[in-house]
Amino acid sequence: MSLVRTNLAILGLQWGDEGKGKVVDLLSPKFQQVVRFQGGNNAGHTVVVDGQSIALHQVPSGALHPGCFLVVGNGVVLNLDVFQQELDRLKARGFDLGGRLMLSDRAHLILPHHIALDLWREGGANKIGTTGRGIGPAYEMKAGRMGVRLGDLLHPETLADRIRPGYEEVRLRLGAEAASLPALEAVVDGLLRTAEPLLPYIGDTQSHLVTAWERGDRILFEGAQATLLDIDHGTYPFVTSSNCSLGGLFTGTGLPPKALDKILGIAKAYTTRVGSGPFPAEMHDATGERLRQVGKEFGTTTGRPRRCGWFDAPITAHACRTNGVDGLAIMKLDVLDGLDEVGLIVGYRTGEGTVTTKLPSCAADWKDLKPEVKLFKGWASTRGITRHGQLPDAAHAYLEALVESVEVPIAYLSTGPDRQEGCIYPGTFLEPLLA
Ligand code: IMP
Repeated sequence: MSLVRTNLAILGLQWGDEGKGKVVDLLSPKFQQVVRFQGGNNAGHTVVVDGQSIALHQVPSGALHPGCFLVVGNGVVLNLDVFQQELDRLKARGFDLGGRLMLSDRAHLILPHHIALDLWREGGANKIGTTGRGIGPAYEMKAGRMGVRLGDLLHPETLADRIRPGYEEVRLRLGAEAASLPALEAVVDGLLRTAEPLLPYIGDTQSHLVTAWERGDRILFEGAQATLLDIDHGTYPFVTSSNCSLGGLFTGTGLPPKALDKILGIAKAYTTRVGSGPFPAEMHDATGERLRQVGKEFGTTTGRPRRCGWFDAPITAHACRTNGVDGLAIMKLDVLDGLDEVGLIVGYRTGEGTVTTKLPSCAADWKDLKPEVKLFKGWASTRGITRHGQLPDAAHAYLEALVESVEVPIAYLSTGPDRQEGCIYPGTFLEPLLA
């Protein structure tokens, strides 16, 4: 298979918000199929059209490239109201997705009582800082065999019976607060109304993708969230409810592993996390604040300030191993410009005083870990650099240490928000794709 026909997965290696949107946007014109396979409208990315930005949460990136067919796989959970609003916003800017969009009939719906349950839990002592979009309850209903799938919308006569078991369980859990839930009939009617214009897009995405693969279409798989938020491989229980790492791609599309050729892992040149949970890199000082302000580290979906710290090599190395990453895209290097010193977390000091790079499986054990930081000389500016040979020596030294610590080479380096601001590393699998 020629490199140019590579089917590629783009996966986040930290706690999300690594800048996957920019990379997908750069790459998607080279692909015929762009696929989302997990998550829902907890994700968020912004695409810029004629200087104006459109926020997208569920529509796959690639919407702006007329040659891309967009697929929402079975592993996704969908809020149809939000999806329709995104389609409307795109249409108003001249991007009509008619004829190039398919939603899996096996994807699950996010319903009003899922959102109510998410918010109710987040109001209590055990909150984990979710996005409040009903993601957890929608996946929970899926696993509990009480989920409602897009295909069920094609059988309106049985829809109330499909929704009822989950709805009744939520009412029980909410107790007196269930009074604010819409009546079951209102949920069904609202859903049928919203779904009506979307019915023609519902289909068998697995067959669609198998056919596209056999035909030799290039397929881009767009991950949402990231490995440290993966329900199995992340910092459980402070995670999202899907498999954001590589395994989720196969269960979330129905394609076999051999349909995938390369895996590009995306990481920022530093680390951020939004929401609660283990985050040893967190800096509560002026440097942390500087990263937040310069990097504009505020959530796309909820606007919450992100927690910021130095690049955490042990967590990123864990993500590289979990996903079998072939190459790294290191984003936002320019955010570190102008600092006297730049840190790299190479391990954690335990309560007993030893240094480890092993990640605990239990949230309680993270509390004892203190980051072991290696400091590097800072540099003046990398902003807008397009060839890695032009990088300041100090930036080179930092990136070399980063690569050594995660044991994966860099394929792409982003040096600013604009499309042109970045370097494709020569000789890597990305070079023929992005040339
Ligand atoms: P949920 O996905 O809304 O259930 O939230 C669970 C955790 O995942 C929370 O810490 C959220 O802040 C985090 N999360 C979910 N989606 C994203 C994302 O796209 N970027 C960053 N964090 C996210």
